[in-house]
Amino acid sequence: MDYTEFKISFKSKEPINDVIKSELNEIGFESFVDYESGYSAFIPSNLFSKIITLKSIENYKSIIDHTEIIDHPYQNWNKKWESSFNPIEISDNCIIRSSFHEKSNVQFDIVINPEMSFGTGHHETTQLMAKSLLSHELNGKSLLDMGTGTGVLAILAEFMGANSVDAIELDSKVYENSIYNGKLNNCSKINFIKGSGVSIKKNKYDYILVNINRNSILEEFKFYASAMEKNSIIILSGFYKSDMSSIQEKGRGYGLKYLNSESLNEWTTLTMKKI
Ligand SMILES: C[S@@+](CC[C@H](N)C(=O)[O-])C[C@H]1O[C@@H](n2cnc3c(N)ncnc32)[C@H](O)[C@@H]1O
Repeated sequence: MDYTEFKISFKSKEPINDVIKSELNEIGFESFVDYESGYSAFIPSNLFSKIITLKSIENYKSIIDHTEIIDHPYQNWNKKWESSFNPIEISDNCIIRSSFHEKSNVQFDIVINPEMSFGTGHHETTQLMAKSLLSHELNGKSLLDMGTGTGVLAILAEFMGANSVDAIELDSKVYENSIYNGKLNNCSKINFIKGSGVSIKKNKYDYILVNINRNSILEEFKFYASAMEKNSIIILSGFYKSDMSSIQEKGRGYGLKYLNSESLNEWTTLTMKKI
């Protein structure tokens, strides 16, 4: 897949700069890389529209210093990842790294070769999801990972003792990459599935992870809810703090109770439990 990078630098460091990410996320930009003076937002090139992108930042003109549009054919995108992918320490006992990095001695040493998939640990939502998961006891539990990307959270769940993991991914190439990463980590409990909410087959899970985006979550919550029973826990991310109340409200409609939430640079993780 070809990607388009929209690079944006700001006149000064302000909290509002991050809020613009949410506008870009709304129109399809799916990942962000921060720089000293701003950040780059990435979108599959076939979904990129220069007119819509420039319109989305129109109201913020006075604080923007410079913007640039850069095309990344598939090959270059891979190279870019390899040169910029550093190991990420999620916690004292969990590291996400690539196979070209030195082996780590921590309890959960996750190896990811991302190609063009999301889920290297660099993004706030992956970090928040992984941290949140690490605070639970997964021994013998069943788990569903929606929007598995590289498979990183499903792999962590198996490492933590989950006894069955279904990992669903919409994009065919990303799905293939998740299978590849599963093998790379010698996983045997993960069932990788190409699909979306409608593909949820098993009746009930102890845990459901969803790191996608606000709109998909609101649309597909009915599928997640149907796969939960009393005491099932759902951990959701891929949205901004300002969107949490609408997602929480949706969950409440399905009999879910708020447990906790965590934010990093406005990106938020919400945990709810079926009562
Ligand atoms: C933000 S990434 C999360 C990746 C990984 N789980 C993580 O936490 O880093 C979201 C992934 O969900 C996939 N996706 C988008 N919509 C989906 C849907 N409705 N069902 C399943 N996967 C979806 C995307 O292709 C992408 O790989």
